Amino acid sequence: MSDDALEGRIAIVTGGGAGIGGAISRRLAAAGATVVINDVDADHLAGAVADIEHSGGRAVPVPGDIRDASVVARLTEVALAVADGRVEVLVNNVGDYRPNGRFLKTSEDEWHQLYALNLEHVFRVTRALAPAMVERGTGSIVNVSTVEAFRGIPANAVYSAFNAGVNAFTKSLAVELGREGVRVNAVAPDLTDTLQTPAAAMLRGRDPDMVRHWLPLGRFGRPDDIADVVVFLAGDAARFVTGTVIPVDGGTTAASGWYLRHDGRGWTNLPDSP
Ligand SMILES: NC(=O)c1ccc[n+]([C@@H]2O[C@H](COP(=O)([O-])OP(=O)(O)OC[C@H]3O[C@@H](n4cnc5c(N)ncnc54)[C@H](O)[C@@H]3O)[C@@H](O)[C@H]2O)c1
Repeated sequence: MSDDALEGRIAIVTGGGAGIGGAISRRLAAAGATVVINDVDADHLAGAVADIEHSGGRAVPVPGDIRDASVVARLTEVALAVADGRVEVLVNNVGDYRPNGRFLKTSEDEWHQLYALNLEHVFRVTRALAPAMVERGTGSIVNVSTVEAFRGIPANAVYSAFNAGVNAFTKSLAVELGREGVRVNAVAPDLTDTLQTPAAAMLRGRDPDMVRHWLPLGRFGRPDDIADVVVFLAGDAARFVTGTVIPVDGGTTAASGWYLRHDGRGWTNLPDSP
């Protein structure tokens, strides 16, 4: 995608160096935005900035762990300085299912880690940057959630609960800020090939041909699949869209436990071994 849908706008992406966030940064820049990119990994950050600049785009790096309040303060300061108080797009992307494991084996310390990784920074970054949007009466916030907030996922109950929190926050804030010109939406990916969930690891020991049985669209997701929906939500094409959580999952949420049969003849919700 290369257009000028976001020309001249300022966009912020947390965890915007690699994976889904990396694709979002690159796509927003290709659409004309100046992208302020936060990432905890110096190589991921440098790679995204270099790619964007190489393509003729504009990117401003803000290194650091988004769980750290001082990093959020720095991100806010840089973003507001880049364009004299203007912030049009905020993408809260950072999240991680780890540490995971059976709930009865989890510790309170692990719950707090998952809270910090999946929900607390979404509140903190939004609290810091949304006022600039309200001030100018325009803005789009896009949160990256997960399909696991819609369904039960064993060994990830706490991750799932905090991402359900992201979805509820998205909807409530959308209602609260709608009259002030700020839209708030979320995307919910599934099975996307990234560093966190590499396709090779998802497939380990399995027949690659099985992918077409698992996902209605017949393949794993790619970071660009998610990024294109985020760019849509960020821009004016989505001017009447707020308070939604869009699954970007190749149809897994719709299938909800239904799979193509091994012989390809119809579907089953009672999958057998091959
Ligand atoms: N990959 C999937 O299949 C999948 C599925 C559902 C939801 N998600 C969600 O999508 C989002 C992105 O996932 P991903 O798979 O691209 O992750 P990833 O781990 O592949 O990439 C995350 C990026 O964020 C950076 N990062 C990680 N922790 C950070 C922190 N504390 N502060 C700043 N930067 C940090 C990393 O360096 C990396 O560049 C997450 O919220 C995740 O929960 C992913």
